[in-house]
Amino acid sequence: MEEKKKRDGFGSKIGIIAAAAGSAIGLGNIYRFPCELGNNGGAAFLLVYLAVVIFLGIPVMLSELVIGRHSQSNAVGAFKKLAPKTAWPIVGYMGVLCGFLIFAFYSTVSGWTLEYIVKAVSNSFSGKDLATIEQDFSDFHNMGWRNVIWQAVFILLTGFVVFKGVQNGIEKYAKILMPLLLVILIVLGVRSMTLPGAKAGLSFLFNPDFSKITGKVLVSALGQGFFSLSLGMGVLITYGSYVKKSDNLTSTAFSVVLADTMIALLAGIVIFPAAFSFGVRPTAGMGLVFNTIPMLFNQMAGGYVFCIIFFVLLAIAALTSTISLLEVVVAYITEQLHVKRQLATVIACAATMFLGVFASLSLMENTPFIIAGKTVFDAMDFISSNVMLPLGGMLIVIFMGWRLGKTKFFEEVTNEGKLKSPLKAIIFFIIRYLAPLAIAVVFINGLIK
Ligand code: PHE
Repeated sequence: MEEKKKRDGFGSKIGIIAAAAGSAIGLGNIYRFPCELGNNGGAAFLLVYLAVVIFLGIPVMLSELVIGRHSQSNAVGAFKKLAPKTAWPIVGYMGVLCGFLIFAFYSTVSGWTLEYIVKAVSNSFSGKDLATIEQDFSDFHNMGWRNVIWQAVFILLTGFVVFKGVQNGIEKYAKILMPLLLVILIVLGVRSMTLPGAKAGLSFLFNPDFSKITGKVLVSALGQGFFSLSLGMGVLITYGSYVKKSDNLTSTAFSVVLADTMIALLAGIVIFPAAFSFGVRPTAGMGLVFNTIPMLFNQMAGGYVFCIIFFVLLAIAALTSTISLLEVVVAYITEQLHVKRQLATVIACAATMFLGVFASLSLMENTPFIIAGKTVFDAMDFISSNVMLPLGGMLIVIFMGWRLGKTKFFEEVTNEGKLKSPLKAIIFFIIRYLAPLAIAVVFINGLIK
């Protein structure tokens, strides 16, 4: 008598690409990528990173999309449906947990983008030298509760969008704004490369010293690749479950990887020449971006306006990523625990906020929130990005390659024979053999060192 309730879904092809790219492109590209590159020897890291996104990123992303669309279910439900009465759903549970963890520290940095919008609007960078801008940044960290309040605002914003559901929530925001971010990064890149002393930064970014490729660099590049592409925790399983049967999954994966990598590279081109020119150390971590960028705008005609636009776009890029993090958790709570979407959103946001406070307060001087010599913020980042995501990704490709298998994979990527998908055999080979092996080797090598 009653028809089965239709799943919420993405309206058009650009819908899934925009939403997946919106998830991928975020602070991971503009903030985390330069930090990791700076801390891991520059161009050598970039090379490994590019290998990771091409050879592992595309196969893992495609596996997630296939699992999601095939199962029509959330990160946990997918494994329950496709492999009932097995331990596979643990991969989904790990993803949901990872979503919480990442959202908790990611929202700290997201909150900073709001603080920096206010700083930009009130013209508080203008005429300042690097030392003053750096001092302001560390003073801000020490105002722990100010960080927490911005973080709370950001979590609420994310909750508001997710509250309203997939279709009009995610799609609408992502479509228009990411191309704008690209444009402003290009403008900034040109300015940065024409600063005096910029060459040293470009060479740091593009001139590899192969002796710098160590086990730690491999682990970091792997983690960064998964983090930046939002892989290994079920974002694309969840989004894949909203994709129409007629969409082309392979071209979606290629487009998203390309867009995400372009933005990261551009961020590098913006940050490093400028950082070298101003005398910001490449290992400066958080300050690398938050101090270099305002300095760069100080050197630009129209810098006041551009600076505001930049931080607004950065906040929005972060938002489309936090939406995807929250969506994984909310889809799980709603579908598996049968809680209404609105209530699920409230619960997930409250839990994230609770964890997030520790991440934010752990960045103050003399903070008590230190675990094994790392701030809670760094510990959460390390465990989720460098351990849980690659581990999740490895299990996902193993699931795709060995459990769901070739026939189902081909069926999904060709839309049951309607698409050609010429690379499907190679990609499946990577999924089945190379990707699990490569991830395992990097891991074990990293552990031994
Ligand atoms: N990919 C996002 C970024 O680069 C972060 C993210 C990681 C989002 C994992 C979802 C899942 O900012």
